[in-house]
Amino acid sequence: MAEGMDFAQRIAEDKAIREHMDKIGRKILIMSGKGGVGKTTVTVNLANALVDSGCTVGVLDTDLHGPNVAKMLGCEAGILTTEDGGNTFFPVEARPGLKVMSLAFAIPDPDSPIVWRGPMKTAAIRQFLAQADWGELDYLLIDSPPGTGDEQLSVCQTIPELTGTVIVTTPQQVAILDARRSVNFSRKMGVAILGVVENMSGLICPHCATEIPIFGMGGGKQMCEQMNVPFLGRIPLEVPLMEAEDAGKSYLSLQPASPSSSAIKAIAQLINSGTAVSSHRDTDFAGTSSCAPSSCATCSSNCSSKKGE
Ligand SMILES: Nc1ncnc2c1ncn2[C@@H]1O[C@H](COP(=O)(O)OP(=O)(O)O)[C@@H](O)[C@H]1O
Ligand SMILES: [Mg+2]
Repeated sequence: MAEGMDFAQRIAEDKAIREHMDKIGRKILIMSGKGGVGKTTVTVNLANALVDSGCTVGVLDTDLHGPNVAKMLGCEAGILTTEDGGNTFFPVEARPGLKVMSLAFAIPDPDSPIVWRGPMKTAAIRQFLAQADWGELDYLLIDSPPGTGDEQLSVCQTIPELTGTVIVTTPQQVAILDARRSVNFSRKMGVAILGVVENMSGLICPHCATEIPIFGMGGGKQMCEQMNVPFLGRIPLEVPLMEAEDAGKSYLSLQPASPSSSAIKAIAQLINSGTAVSSHRDTDFAGTSSCAPSSCATCSSNCSSKKGE
């Protein structure tokens, strides 16, 4: 009996997930092998850049142990409103056109650790996707913790039509080694790789604006060439960018012409134009660039399956 009920609940949850996801254009998972390389930075700044260019964007924070999206978008005091006896909730509006869903809104004490095993994390992510009513959106950007574990797997399995992954790395060799795993994870999951961002690519000296290759430079691009995936661009380290994030302010608004802001806007434009996409499958790895039909809504115009070839 209980099993029957669980099954029915799962079907209802799947249906709710479909209904919400069908209203969203592109769904992008931001991932990296290593922690602290700038996934959340890339997610929130891409979100702001896309909103600035007229898109509607949702950001789903699946970093359940370290949910920083709301803080970086300056909406951590936001309150989720609910409907339907708590079965539906509405993500917090960080600014017009930008909605955020994060566990941070549901935990009363931000210092409390979330001590969850894998199945609880999977259940939480499914619940976010089933119960959050985003309305119509152009983009859903999904921030994730480091690695290729439960959170990334849950997202890929729950949203099989995922547009693709954006992989973040620093130029440092250990970060790149881990980023290669994210590339291979995407391939194994049959998800398109929109490209790799090399973050912290040179430090812009706050005093003299000279660029110092603190973690090296160019390693991300080199990896893209070796693994045949698109390179989306490099974002330098800028101290005021970090300060803006700590203050929950948009660096793109504060310093629109800075090297990092210009890089982020160019990456957003590349993603928005739909030109950055690589092949999906292990079998495509050798170099053909055909896309699986699941991503055709957003893949490049030369996609063979789009043309019916
Ligand atoms: N390009 C950058 N310039 C300055 N600070 C950065 C940059 N990228 C990330 N940071 C800072 O580095 C820290 C880690 O970045 P974060 O985006 O939280 O990484 P991750 O999500 O991969 O763990 C944060 O304090 C963030 O503000
Ligand atoms: Mg993060």
